Amino acid sequence: MNRPGPDNPPNPQAAQARARIEQMKRQFEQKRAIESSLAGIKTKIGVYSGKGGVGKTTVAVNLAVTLAQDGAGAGLLDVDIDCPNVVRAMNVAEPPKVGEDNRLSPPERFGVKVMSMGFFQKKEEEAIIWRGPMIHNAINQLLQATDWGELDYLLIDLPPGTSDSPLTVMQTLAVDGFVVVTTPQELAMIDAMRSINMIRTLNVDVLGVVENFAGPIFGSGAGEQLAREMQVPFLGRLELRKDYRDTSRPTVLNSAPVLREYRQIASRTKAALDGVTVKAV
Ligand SMILES: Nc1ncnc2c1ncn2[C@@H]1O[C@H](COP(=O)(O)OP(=O)(O)OP(=O)(O)O)[C@@H](O)[C@H]1O
Ligand SMILES: [Mg+2]
Repeated sequence: MNRPGPDNPPNPQAAQARARIEQMKRQFEQKRAIESSLAGIKTKIGVYSGKGGVGKTTVAVNLAVTLAQDGAGAGLLDVDIDCPNVVRAMNVAEPPKVGEDNRLSPPERFGVKVMSMGFFQKKEEEAIIWRGPMIHNAINQLLQATDWGELDYLLIDLPPGTSDSPLTVMQTLAVDGFVVVTTPQELAMIDAMRSINMIRTLNVDVLGVVENFAGPIFGSGAGEQLAREMQVPFLGRLELRKDYRDTSRPTVLNSAPVLREYRQIASRTKAALDGVTVKAV
């Protein structure tokens, strides 16, 4: 290659093109590394809602534990960089082990392999304020470094909103579909509609809707209405209960009625996965 010099003036356009090709190469390699790192996982399910505090983490945790209780190999990935709650919800004490090849082995708790950004925080209350590109890199690195082994299901707990981290995950991880969580209030339904539309824009399937906090206080029925209007399956209703106060274990392990609710959601989610090629649009 000719070096820039008196007879060969630098060509900024060529340099730009080279840089672009290098970047594309890096992205391609990164994508391939992520794919190979997730190759042993049969089904990847994202749990999402545009609105905060509707119970995404609770649903991801309890659904993963329910699937594991019923004999499946289950994993749980917390990609909420700003506020990783899965470590606390699963009460995991030990951090991931670093293998000889520098890969991370997720600790297992209640039969579920757990990986979270929370493992890399010094203090639990430490706020993580990262800008978009850093969030993108952190998620990519976590996805590349984790050695999940063979799993039937990986549940992915997403942060709320339509910002960097959910988008990064939706774009870099080939999820099989999303479970959308909503609450019985009307305002939440509008948010959930937006979430479903965002997922569809990215050409990913919506497996169905879960209504959380149902009961006499907030009412119920909005989840079913949303499912009908958006033409997606209704996966089930979770009642607002005191049972969730005991945070020592995921609630499905402490409460028979909650386990029943989650078993229904698990079986309807499996049915939706089986019919996933019949796209619900
Ligand atoms: N059905 C329920 N009954 C009672 N409490 C519940 C129920 N579902 C969730 N909770 C509680 O509500 C709180 C919020 O739930 P959670 O953290 O799962 O929401 P989130 O959508 O993940 O929030 P964020 O948007 O901040 O990630 C938690 O304290 C959880 O224990
Ligand atoms: Mg959460």
